[in-house]
Amino acid sequence: MLEIDSLEGESFLDAGCGSGIHSLAARRLGAKVVSFDYDPKSVACAAELKRRYYDGDPDWTISEGSVLDRDYLDKLGEFSVVYSWGVLHHTGAMFDALANVETLVAPNGWLFISIYNDQGGASRRWRLIKKAYNASPAIVRGLIVALCYPRLWGPTTIRDFLRLKPFETWRNYAKSRGMSPHRDVVDWVGGYPFEVAKPEVIFEFYKARGYELRKLFTCGGGHGCNQYVFVRQRSSAKGKTAARSKKAEAKP
Ligand SMILES: C[S@@+](CC[C@H](N)C(=O)[O-])C[C@H]1O[C@@H](n2cnc3c(N)ncnc32)[C@H](O)[C@@H]1O
Repeated sequence: MLEIDSLEGESFLDAGCGSGIHSLAARRLGAKVVSFDYDPKSVACAAELKRRYYDGDPDWTISEGSVLDRDYLDKLGEFSVVYSWGVLHHTGAMFDALANVETLVAPNGWLFISIYNDQGGASRRWRLIKKAYNASPAIVRGLIVALCYPRLWGPTTIRDFLRLKPFETWRNYAKSRGMSPHRDVVDWVGGYPFEVAKPEVIFEFYKARGYELRKLFTCGGGHGCNQYVFVRQRSSAKGKTAARSKKAEAKP
């Protein structure tokens, strides 16, 4: 996505790191990595990954924090790569989160995010289902998941039968997705808060803040994520403040 082979010499912020799997990949590519998540279990999982592969490494730090907490973010500094995959739409305040991560990108740095696609009525219906799932007891949750199966797996299953390869996608799913197909269904149905945006909305949002879109992968109009790589074109807000105060100091 960044069109480079190495992250040597780059600073990499993984905002909403989840398990820490992408932080590990960035560290292996040579970046100095800072990871955070607001969920203590995710932080614990990322810490375990670090313990297994980079124990005691000072170039990978992991902490608990929220992308909506300005005081916390202000202490992190600026990064040449700010990466937030599948996170900002789950915060309950997506546009605040989109604005907050932007302040952490160094001048000429990359901002790499993925945001759920806005499918209009279909997204609104999914939002209701997700809300209902999260408000329900376990037995009702199971029923909601079961009712979602035909929509989520029906077309693929029929296609595999027609190709005379019954359940091929289901059987091979974990290899490509990194989780079992059932876990993926539960993850999708239960993933709430849930906000969505059309690509043009995200494009305009960051264009207005001095970013240029370098790469866009859409999910083809489906219910997945669109992925964006932006580059910061102007000096950062922090840089500007520092420059302003230097000027003020220089004044007689
Ligand atoms: C779908 S997971 C993605 C995890 C990781 N980025 C990945 O791609 O594997 C969403 C993550 O966002 C985290 N998250 C949700 N709200 C957050 C917030 N306000 N601040 C930081 N992380 C948050 C969740 O705890 C979860 O780990």
